[in-house]
Amino acid sequence: MVLPKPLEGAEPPRAIQEGDLVIVYESFTAIKSAYADAKATYTSRFGTFPHKDWLGKRYGTKAYSRPPGRGWVQLLAPTPELWTLVLRHRTQILYLADISLVVSQLDLRPGSVVLESGTGSASLTHSLARAVAPGGRVHSFEFHELRAREAGAELARNGLPPTLASVTLRNIEERGFPVDELAGAADGVFLDLPGPWRVVPSAAACLKPNGRFCSFSPCIEQVQRTCEALDANGMTDIVTYEVLLRNYEVGEETLLAPLDEAGDSGAGDGGGGEGVSAAVASEGAEQQTSRKRSREEDSASDQQQPNQQQQQQQQQQQQQQQQQQQQQQEQQQQPEGQQQQQQAGAAGPGGGRRRGPPPPAATRPVRMVVAKPSMEARGHTGYLTFARKFV
Ligand SMILES: C[S@@+](CC[C@H](N)C(=O)[O-])C[C@H]1O[C@@H](n2cnc3c(N)ncnc32)[C@H](O)[C@@H]1O
Repeated sequence: MVLPKPLEGAEPPRAIQEGDLVIVYESFTAIKSAYADAKATYTSRFGTFPHKDWLGKRYGTKAYSRPPGRGWVQLLAPTPELWTLVLRHRTQILYLADISLVVSQLDLRPGSVVLESGTGSASLTHSLARAVAPGGRVHSFEFHELRAREAGAELARNGLPPTLASVTLRNIEERGFPVDELAGAADGVFLDLPGPWRVVPSAAACLKPNGRFCSFSPCIEQVQRTCEALDANGMTDIVTYEVLLRNYEVGEETLLAPLDEAGDSGAGDGGGGEGVSAAVASEGAEQQTSRKRSREEDSASDQQQPNQQQQQQQQQQQQQQQQQQQQQQEQQQQPEGQQQQQQAGAAGPGGGRRRGPPPPAATRPVRMVVAKPSMEARGHTGYLTFARKFV
């Protein structure tokens, strides 16, 4: 796992060694992980990749399939953020929107001590450990034996030793945090439990003065009970956030822009009809360059996808032809005087620019980078309740 080493400055990405965790980036929607093992092979729809080819390569470089030709994958250095995307789910997990707010609002920094329960899949634990390293400590508590064991082993395998992040088997709702060992020791406490209000007394006892508390709850009834317990245990500054995350997908698309806005001179030069057909022809050229560009940019594997872009462009051409036909029909249905007036307006007196908004068909396709809300947005995840210990 990539941890900050403040005294060493910015390190260049190091070479992959036997046993290292590698984040394997296949494409935007396919990110996986593997532990480098000279005897193992990574297989995906993009080909077969013997790990021995990876050893000695720097993180951040490409690995090509064997035999060559099918594709490549990118070998990324592990971070808590990437780990959250690839980890094996033993439970529901916290994602990056919640994690970032938790880490920042708990005021965590290198050297901080933080208590967590339950550990679950240790998605959050990795980010807590990175925030408090070096010199800090995450004490995570889990009452499910197998989960506790697996999480502890995984943290160690990912380069986070027990001196930085440990997982202890303990029923925290029944027994509370170990106040005998940790009274007044914690800078932060985080709970992701079904009954967090039961744990507030021992959490408050373990916090340092000014320490920060956070509890994640999927429903508002839990929040209510937790806030009551926080108030009863002398915690102040209580605030609840509902974290809503909305992803936007960014990509290049062909859009129909009004001729005037697209800065096209076609309509002024030769009338609406000619202008549009010129635009269609020029779109053909644009399509070719843009298809070429995407071929160059995509990985070999992405080239094997069906040509959706081509289909989209054909649909857009059809739409444009329909719009032209509709405009012609509308013109035929208008009284003659009005038609003459419109044609004069389109060309402008003396062939100048048209005044007013263009007719509906006076558009041309333009390639643009577009951001659209993702269809896979997760929306509401839960409520995060924060509080502070005053003495
Ligand atoms: C939703 S998961 C936590 C997920 C974790 N925050 C993550 O990001 O991966 C909740 C965990 O709390 C544990 N748990 C529930 N009740 C508990 C208790 N009384 N004491 C300790 N752990 C408990 C469950 O076994 C489960 O693993």
